[in-house]
Amino acid sequence: MNLEYLSGFGNEFASEALPGALPVGQNSPQKAPYGLYTELFSGTAFTMVRSEARRTWLYRIQPSANHPAFVKLERQLAGGPLGAVTPNRLRWNPLDMPAEPTDFIDGLVGMVANSGSESPSGISIYNYRANRSMERVFFNADGELLIVPEQGRLRIATELGVLDLEPLEIVVLPRGLKFRVELLDAQARGYVAENHGASLRLPDLGPIGSNGLANPRDFLTPVAHYEDLKKPTTLVQKFLGELWACELDHSPLNVVAWHGNNVPYKYDLRRFNTIGTVSFDHPDPSIFTVLTSPTSVHGLANLDFVIFPPRWMVAENTFRPPWFHRNLMNEYMGLIQGAYDAKAEGFLPGGASLHSCMSAHGPDGETCTKAINVELAPHKIDNTMAFMFETSQVLRPTQFALECPQLQNTYDACWASLPATFNPNRR
Ligand SMILES: [Fe+2]
Repeated sequence: MNLEYLSGFGNEFASEALPGALPVGQNSPQKAPYGLYTELFSGTAFTMVRSEARRTWLYRIQPSANHPAFVKLERQLAGGPLGAVTPNRLRWNPLDMPAEPTDFIDGLVGMVANSGSESPSGISIYNYRANRSMERVFFNADGELLIVPEQGRLRIATELGVLDLEPLEIVVLPRGLKFRVELLDAQARGYVAENHGASLRLPDLGPIGSNGLANPRDFLTPVAHYEDLKKPTTLVQKFLGELWACELDHSPLNVVAWHGNNVPYKYDLRRFNTIGTVSFDHPDPSIFTVLTSPTSVHGLANLDFVIFPPRWMVAENTFRPPWFHRNLMNEYMGLIQGAYDAKAEGFLPGGASLHSCMSAHGPDGETCTKAINVELAPHKIDNTMAFMFETSQVLRPTQFALECPQLQNTYDACWASLPATFNPNRR
């Protein structure tokens, strides 16, 4: 299995598993090399402006069109429909690992969403738990997938090649890309954001300049790898939120060569060039944005993927934890490892929290009191990686998320211990 990667972001990539499999000088010759079929895989409308357009040309053993009718599966995604609207702050303990044999698809659990799968904008967020490799192949017609592992290494065999992934790395799989998730450890757990809107891309850097945050060269795309297998394979798709399947007599991961920019890619969060204050106060958390899916309103994201990595805290005369705040944006947070600097307890690796539009939040009582009274010196927040899926539309929890035993019913109490320290006679 070829585990080489091409590096870069958003440019035109090209890869061939057999020499000369890529046609030269044209996309669709009368006879493609090696008797392959040509297929266009478009991630945007044909007429999209060039800077936004994503498409890849595939040279494959069988065209994707060679499949029988899809039949709706009896077993649908876990999580259920969206539940009651709530403005409350919510937090969940990590979901238990499954007791039954569970692959990546069966292990996906819908947690929150802000649009139906038919919507051209918005996101849906899942947690996943799995204890066996997929034998079937899957594609998602409803959006791009951003996978954030918390436990367990994954091997993701895609149409365009193979990506190995471990916690502290992320992967983005374009809408419609066929893939199979294999487990490299006994079990796996993590988070998935399904992006129904514009494809994720690097944020603009403005006055930061031409370097910093996530650098383009650190994004890795797989090289071509194909399976020439005549074996029965179940192909599952998610279409408007429902799972459908058909039976193939061959592996659909049969692309021998490809070129384009509609590609899967992975990124190691440890390579993030973290930027912060070297004087006082701290910048807005947007300074930690790895990837963004913009809306048509400039500066308003459909999805921001933001991380809180290890970093030095040096600000003078400053309340250093994340300040108390109320936002327009809606924040679904997860923790990959360690502890998050705004919470002394209760926010665990694999757990999650939801702070919706205008809900007040910030450091818990213990963290706050400590931060006000500590003698400030440079110190490093280490061995940690929290993240946030942030979105401009309100996220509604699923019925599962509202009813599962992992939902903490005492979350509000973490701010209740904030002492009243106001004294009008002492400045
Ligand atoms: Fe927040």
